[in-house]
Amino acid sequence: MPRIILTVVHPITHLVSLPVANNKRPQLFTDNLALGGRLSTDAKWDAAYERARALVSQMTIPEKVNLTTGTGFMSEACVGNTGSVPRLNITSLCLQDSPLGVRADLASNFPPAIAAGATFNKPLISYRGNAIAAEHKRKGVHVVLGPAIGPLGRNPAGGRNWEGFGADPYLQGIGSRLTVRSIQNAGLVATAKHFIGNEQEHFRQVIESVGYGYSNIQASISSNIDDRTLHEIYLWPFADAIHEGVGSVMCSYNQVNNSYACQNSYLINKVLKEELGFQGFVMSDWWATHSGVAPANAGTDMTMPGDAGWELWGRTFWGPNLVTATLNGSVADWRLNDMAVRIMAAYYYVGLDKNTIGGPNYFAWTKQTTGLLHPLSWNSPEGVVNKHVNVMHSPISKMASIQTAREAIVLLKNSNQTLPFYTPQNSAKTHPRSINIFGLAAGPDPNGANCADGIGCSNGALGSGWGSGSVFFPYFVTPYEGISERARQNDIEVDYAFSSWDLDRVYKKAPNADFNLIFGLSDSGEGFIQVDHNLGDRNNFTLWHNAENVIAETVKLNRNNIIIVTSVGAVNMEKWIDHENVTAVIFTPPAGQDAGTALADVIWGVQNACGKLPFTIAKNDTDYIPILEQLPSDGYPQANFQEGIYIDYRNFDAKNIQPRFEFGYGLSYSNWTVSNGKVIPILPINSSDLPPSPNWKDLGSSSCTASSSSDPHSLLFPQNFNNMSNYIYPYLNTLEGVPQSLNTTCSIQQGAPLHPPLAGGGLGGNPALWEVVYQVSATVTNHGPYVGSYAFQLYLGFPTDTYDSPPRQLRGFEKPNLGINNSATLSFPLLRRDISVWDTVKQSWVVPKGTYKVYVGYSSRDIAWTGSFVV
Ligand code: BGC
Repeated sequence: MPRIILTVVHPITHLVSLPVANNKRPQLFTDNLALGGRLSTDAKWDAAYERARALVSQMTIPEKVNLTTGTGFMSEACVGNTGSVPRLNITSLCLQDSPLGVRADLASNFPPAIAAGATFNKPLISYRGNAIAAEHKRKGVHVVLGPAIGPLGRNPAGGRNWEGFGADPYLQGIGSRLTVRSIQNAGLVATAKHFIGNEQEHFRQVIESVGYGYSNIQASISSNIDDRTLHEIYLWPFADAIHEGVGSVMCSYNQVNNSYACQNSYLINKVLKEELGFQGFVMSDWWATHSGVAPANAGTDMTMPGDAGWELWGRTFWGPNLVTATLNGSVADWRLNDMAVRIMAAYYYVGLDKNTIGGPNYFAWTKQTTGLLHPLSWNSPEGVVNKHVNVMHSPISKMASIQTAREAIVLLKNSNQTLPFYTPQNSAKTHPRSINIFGLAAGPDPNGANCADGIGCSNGALGSGWGSGSVFFPYFVTPYEGISERARQNDIEVDYAFSSWDLDRVYKKAPNADFNLIFGLSDSGEGFIQVDHNLGDRNNFTLWHNAENVIAETVKLNRNNIIIVTSVGAVNMEKWIDHENVTAVIFTPPAGQDAGTALADVIWGVQNACGKLPFTIAKNDTDYIPILEQLPSDGYPQANFQEGIYIDYRNFDAKNIQPRFEFGYGLSYSNWTVSNGKVIPILPINSSDLPPSPNWKDLGSSSCTASSSSDPHSLLFPQNFNNMSNYIYPYLNTLEGVPQSLNTTCSIQQGAPLHPPLAGGGLGGNPALWEVVYQVSATVTNHGPYVGSYAFQLYLGFPTDTYDSPPRQLRGFEKPNLGINNSATLSFPLLRRDISVWDTVKQSWVVPKGTYKVYVGYSSRDIAWTGSFVV
């Protein structure tokens, strides 16, 4: 028996009861719409649907069900595996984490999305996406479990914020769209996750919370979100993904407005599939379905990993139970067809039928070459499980990794141009003679780069947060390694003291070097792992491992101290940021395998500092929206999103709270200016209301695909079937209660008129939302003294006569790379959606009438040019 590396360790729990079927036809939002097909205005999806329907119409009921149900946790090579349909040459689909790389051997550990967001560099975000996609593809993955675009970062302490691009829907939306494009251009299905309101880890799952001692918990946390906030904030990046054609959406663990996200018909059937015109399939997060019939009827199309809960013994809500539910009418036949067709449509849409890699050539559960093919089956055969295909050794991977890490580094303070150290570009500076490197966050973890499963540890430098969003480190260049190598090349003396607790060495060394580089970190991750009593979410905003004391003591002993914070999110800097001996401060999100090299590049000016904060850093922790940590006495945790659309800088700006560093902040080694701003109308806005959305094509009537076989024996295990124990199959054990002949006709309503809601009608909503209505342009100049890139940002202030709106909202960013004294003209396209608000009465987007303020600048508060336009 091989050693099993449990990369995602989900505790084992009690048995969950199986669904009770009934004969009532469920009432669905989509009853007059979907009917087993899809409603599309998109020719590429239409073509994919044609093929999917032709295929699914040949399938028996168990074959369709097999597409929808995972084969069970650890039953096959990938973290999620669907059943196959060998008769029609459809192999199992391999679903694999993570949003920052493929969790397999010989693969890159790329900078997480929060680092990609901090680059504010669109081509680079795409480039990173291409590299991640290419590595997944070569490992034989079919469905990439990313990008993560929720959580958005409502709660700065939220454990998984680092898996996404930043605490702003527009930034998150751009990251979402570009990454989906990269993954699907590579011919793989991307998964936009987690839908929706999964903003904290505490109480996301009952069993996890019980494990942490919250024994009275009765249900997962409910994120209670109002309609406008849902649309303008949390749904926004999902609309981007759908507009881009994303093949899959993962519904989340939490409840939304007290209905589980994976069985919330309003959110899935109505908002996602009808209003946003989502064409692909909805998969559940791992064990996020709580019953069989309800999620199916609410619009969930695939249950993952297939088991009914963490007990992992081959029991499932779907599989044979979905067969039964379909036979007795609890789940309509068209709904089962719809599930199967949606999965196969996504398959054809991205071109998985042309994938030449075949299946996975790695194994998610061990790095050894051979092992059990189905690790949880007692009768599993052994075989080769890992072919050790090296996918990290490509120039694209190397460049994506290092350049994202470099451009994610945010320079927060730089008194008297402390940084960069000497570079050939600026020979006026002299090399430091000596540097000290202090802090546990600078050096290697004594337990290794892969210090624990899911990187749930942090006794050394931080390269990523923890949980399913992490991957193995093939290597990890720590800041100490990157900096000391660069120092060696320049004949600079380097000494270090990693121990953060025993400060004697720090006292001795600190006065003697030209510079002290002091490192601190703060970490978080997914709720199934706790590190240092942080149950996924962070307990506070302090630096870990006594780093604040290291800073406090060191700055007394030397006049030149550079503080480097690596953190998954904002930390409190008030104790030391203004100290005169703190001459420079760098913030870096965890930045993957090449973090240390990238940091050295910025410190030495090989790379001009150009990262921007993808969230606000407050002066007072109480200025943030806190996570819910107390379980209410009734056991039903409720997160009321009562701040509405006022999250992150929107909140600080509206309440006039001075942050320490605002969203979008980040210094450059160069001086930059903005001039010549202009607003150019592109399309007239004739009405505040959206133009009528185009009618959908009626794909429904032709899409009815009842079982191809009327013989009930097609429901049973095939003869001589080699059944693996604890493995999920779609077959029934007996035909008891099954009709003598199966219905092969489709009893669905046909030819219903298909009028989408005003907000709908295309991928990501009404196509007019995606039209460019204004263009803002501005000339920007790099006045030197360094070549470099700079992320200019565009914010809009909406008219507020009818709808309250934040003073400024991000609606564009561009990052030119310019030589010294060079200029460029930037243009920022504004879509109709960018100037719209969600009207809860009209249930549609509206362009408010009045004057819009246009701000182009260096951050959300440092504005260089203000213009306006009137609608
Ligand atoms: C996470 C998902 C992940 C899945 C598979 C879940 O716990 O929430 O993001 O894709 O596990 O590992």
